[in-house]
Amino acid sequence: MADQAFVTLATNDSYARGAMVLGKSLRNHNTAKKLVALIGPHVSVQCKAVLQRIFDEVRVVDVLDSGDTAHLAMMKRPDLGVTFTKLHCWTLTHYSKCVFMDADTLVLSNIDELFDRKELSAAPDPGWPDCFNSGVFVCCPSMETYDKLVQYCTEHGSFDGGDQGILNGFFGDWATADISKHLPFIYNVSSVAIYTYMPAFKQFGGNAKVVHFLGKTKPWNYTFDPKAKRLSGDAHEATSHPTFLMDWWMLYSSAVVPLLYEQYGDQPFNSGCVKGESLEAQALLISSEERRERWEQGQADYLGLDSFENIQRKLDSFLK
Ligand code: UDP
Ligand code: GLC
Ligand code: MN
Repeated sequence: MADQAFVTLATNDSYARGAMVLGKSLRNHNTAKKLVALIGPHVSVQCKAVLQRIFDEVRVVDVLDSGDTAHLAMMKRPDLGVTFTKLHCWTLTHYSKCVFMDADTLVLSNIDELFDRKELSAAPDPGWPDCFNSGVFVCCPSMETYDKLVQYCTEHGSFDGGDQGILNGFFGDWATADISKHLPFIYNVSSVAIYTYMPAFKQFGGNAKVVHFLGKTKPWNYTFDPKAKRLSGDAHEATSHPTFLMDWWMLYSSAVVPLLYEQYGDQPFNSGCVKGESLEAQALLISSEERRERWEQGQADYLGLDSFENIQRKLDSFLK
């Protein structure tokens, strides 16, 4: 349906990369809906051009910022004031229905069925399940609702300093009024839940349709070695499930990075992917004895040095 769209938001180039991957994941799963990216004026021309290749509509919007440092400090996320900008989703009145998705989400299968849901449908927040998580929600654009939301912001503020606080205040009967507005958790599976309820993740994680890289460390904060299929980053900060993180990077490195190279041409830019053998070279810092010891203790580096591809490559070199 031409009047229904998936919508995301990026106010800077980092989140824009997330939006590119999200858009590609929706396309790969053959969505029949339009794709819209709302961007702030600070997104670079190159990133904007890549977004235009993936999305049907790229719309520059004013960045709305709560400026509510006190509430944001409670979440330890001073950067989230700008998430008020999400409210622009209600101004897209050329669509009758939209599904908003955070730029840090990744689609794992077709989710067009979400358009059968009413406003405001969303999945429970893993931290406080009587609130919905505003990383994925169904809404019906309307200037009247938009004006009321902005009015609500000025009168009540947001209890978390971001859009989630506003939306949960405004759609305050979500928890109790209509169970059909509760999206199954598989439409917004966050890493937080994976680590706090691992048995449930083992049981149901395979049904996940959307993964949400919620929290401070985003996929684009890592560095990826495409050859070795290995990620590096601060292990203490690693809060995402390695398989989902790898899904994100495989899609980003294969489908988005080439588009970025086309746009940047000779100008330098950091794709986040290392060139050459540098990560593999780093591996030499671990002695083979130590590596064997780790392996024997069941601490194989499945996604990196000890990945299937690496073992196969080694075997191939012997066979040759
Ligand atoms: N966002 C943005 N720029 C920012 C921060 C956030 O464009 O500087 C948008 C982006 O779409 C992002 C969403 O707002 O996915 C919500 O922020 P985030 O995903 O970081 O919040 P979390 O889900 O981690 O609480
Ligand atoms: C959250 C949501 C995110 C929202 C933020 C600020 O944890 O995941 O989508 O923007 O809170 O309210
Ligand atoms: Mn998010």
